[in-house]
Amino acid sequence: MSGLKKPARTAGADYEDSLMRDGLSNPLPWPIYKAIQALVWLLEYLLRRLTPPPIRMMKESWRGYDSAALGTIAHCGVADELRNGPLSAGQIAHNLGLRKDDLYTMLRLLVNNGIFEALPGKPTLFRNNAMSATLREGHPTRMRYWCTVSQYWRCMYEQDTMQQYLRTADPDAASELTLLERSLGKPFWKHLQDTPGLDAAFAAAMSDQSNGLHGGLAVLADYDWSSYSRMIDFGGGPGTVLEAVLRAHPQMQGVLFDQPQVVKETADLWQAKNDSRSLMSRVAFVEGNFFKPGTLPRGKDGDLYHLRHICHDWSDDAAVNLLQSLRRAIGPARAMLVLTEMVITNEFGGRSTDRMAAAYDVMMRFLFHGKERSLEAWRALLDQGGFHLLRLREIRNSFSCIIELPQPCYGLGKGRPALNTLQHASNSQQLIQPTQLLLL
Ligand SMILES: C[S@@+](CC[C@H](N)C(=O)[O-])C[C@H]1O[C@@H](n2cnc3c(N)ncnc32)[C@H](O)[C@@H]1O
Repeated sequence: MSGLKKPARTAGADYEDSLMRDGLSNPLPWPIYKAIQALVWLLEYLLRRLTPPPIRMMKESWRGYDSAALGTIAHCGVADELRNGPLSAGQIAHNLGLRKDDLYTMLRLLVNNGIFEALPGKPTLFRNNAMSATLREGHPTRMRYWCTVSQYWRCMYEQDTMQQYLRTADPDAASELTLLERSLGKPFWKHLQDTPGLDAAFAAAMSDQSNGLHGGLAVLADYDWSSYSRMIDFGGGPGTVLEAVLRAHPQMQGVLFDQPQVVKETADLWQAKNDSRSLMSRVAFVEGNFFKPGTLPRGKDGDLYHLRHICHDWSDDAAVNLLQSLRRAIGPARAMLVLTEMVITNEFGGRSTDRMAAAYDVMMRFLFHGKERSLEAWRALLDQGGFHLLRLREIRNSFSCIIELPQPCYGLGKGRPALNTLQHASNSQQLIQPTQLLLL
């Protein structure tokens, strides 16, 4: 047996391996990052201004095909199929059991959108590029499952249903089913619970989303997590940030709090990782329900409660209810609350962050009972929940910000900071120390 030679690696496989890298977690220095953002905004603006309106309208109306093709190709695992080098649509179709000609047309559409590459040949050969490589399993900033869950917003393409909904429904009424929930026949979280395997798929999509929305793990560089002794990832799902923070800061303890089956799946997932022994000894997996105060983890001095994309899932009433329960669970402990959420800073700004927040708001309203919020709306919500919004911190490569809230604050503060005195911090020099936050 020892005489068996390993098959030689091909140049194609080496090329594919070279694409499996994380381009986000070591973000560019702030000035360069800001300059590139401004340049991108200018180019996008020019592109929009220089394209005649009817042509732009055609392009806008086509986006559904782009999204459907991307979601389907991601789901079918085409990017992984190319891991050993270029293949024709026929070879990919044969290996994956797909329709060859239809696969070709979808790949051609994606190549034209800058996803995958086509190599001239007879027949055309396809290979990954930096974009399509993120659809591969094991890519450090994987996006496969996020692209796959795009099936949920397809309910918005059912024009009749959508129109009927627009004319009759009040999406803010918590008792009402949203457009998506009408087509599912039940609330979304119940649908996840009831459908075998869907929880795991959704958790994988949430992990991927942390790359697309939260700048990979740039969030580690842009917030000082190490000031705390324990991090409670509240509604932590797959616990992507919790895991990264615990790995980066071995002195910290962690708690992952979520619904029972999600907690079980995340614990199994973490357990299965080869190097997880020391990690598992530092983390508690706690099952509960945001709306059952007795199930929430109690606060201790030095705690950091982290809520990433939790409040945006809920209506104002439900989010206030959740925050008030959390406030009671924290009690008198000297803890910090950190929210990673989108903030609508310019409703009609046209920058990619503005467009992303606007698109998410549509998604949250029609699919869930949630919404994206402006800084004023966040402040009002948090006030009602028993917290004071203190500061925004920008995360590089990210569509979300960190919102920091000091503790204790409710009824104990020496006045609330005016909105225009809130800091919008974008580099570590501007950080206020947590002890100072307690004085506000
Ligand atoms: C949008 S996901 C965010 C997950 C995670 N924070 C992240 O960013 O990857 C919302 C999470 O809230 C959890 N969740 C929803 N309703 C809950 C409830 N009533 N009690 C506890 N967790 C809940 C879901 O299971 C899910 O993991």
